Amino acid sequence: MVFELEVLPDESLLVDAAAHRFVAVANTAIEARGAFIVALSGGSTPRSLYAQLAAEPCVSSLDWSRVHILWGDERCVPPDHVSSNYRMARETLLDHVPVPEANVHRIRGEDDPVEAALAYERVLRAELLTPIGPPRAAPGSRIDLVLLGLGHDGHTASLFPGKASLHDNARWVVADHVHAVPMWRVTLTASVMNAAAEVVFLVSGDAKAAIVRTVLEGPRRPQELPAQLIAPTAGRVTWFLDAPAATELGRDPD
Ligand code: 6PG
Repeated sequence: MVFELEVLPDESLLVDAAAHRFVAVANTAIEARGAFIVALSGGSTPRSLYAQLAAEPCVSSLDWSRVHILWGDERCVPPDHVSSNYRMARETLLDHVPVPEANVHRIRGEDDPVEAALAYERVLRAELLTPIGPPRAAPGSRIDLVLLGLGHDGHTASLFPGKASLHDNARWVVADHVHAVPMWRVTLTASVMNAAAEVVFLVSGDAKAAIVRTVLEGPRRPQELPAQLIAPTAGRVTWFLDAPAATELGRDPD
C-alpha cells in the first residue's frame, strides 16, 4: 500500500486537488483499458467535488462515455429521497455529464436492505468480471477509484463502529441497521475497497480534526474506527484534508 497525505490550505483548494486526482486517475484507466470504474461517496463533503467535475475545465477533460459509476454505500431510502446518496450525485454530477445510463449502477435503497445488498454484489461482480471468489486487485477486475468520507465516529462508507460486517471478508456488499443514524444502510465491505487501485478520503473542516488525528495517528482500533480498515493491498490511499481538518495532526498526545 502507498499512503499519501495532502493538506490543502482551504476547502476550495482541497476540491481542486481532489478533482485533479479524479481526472488524472480516470484518464490513466481509460488510456490503459478504455474504461474507468469509480465508486462515489455520499454525505455532504463530496458535493462541491461533484459540482466541480461537472463544470469546466473538468467536464471536458475526460471521456464520460467511458466512465462507470458505482456507489460505496447508500442509505435505504428511495432514489428521490433527500437523504439518498444517488440523488445527491445525480443532482450535482450525473445530470450534468454525458455518462451513459447503462454505466450508472446505483444501490437500490428502496428495496429490502438485505436483498439490495445481494443484488448489488451481483452487479459489482459482473462489473468487475469476478463472478465468484474474493476481490482481485487486478486492472479491469477492481475499482479504479473509491471516494470516501470520514464520519465523526470514525465510520467510512457505511462501515460503522462495532458492526460484524467490518470483518466480513466473504461478502462484497452488506446491509446493516445503524442505530447511530438510525437507518438501514447498504455498503461495500473493506475487502472490495482494499482491492481498489486508488482510494481517496476527502475530509474538510475543523469539526473533523479530532477524528482525523485519532484515525491517522491514534492506536489501531479498526473495530471502533472502521476508516482504519481501508488500506489498499496493491494500491494507493490518499487523504485529502483541508488545513482546518488537519489542525490536530502531529500534536502531542494528551
Ligand atoms: C454517507 C457516507 C458517509 C460519509 C460520512 C461523512 O452515506 O453518509 O458514505 O460515510 O462519507 O458520514 O459525511 P459528511 O461528508 O457529510 O461529513
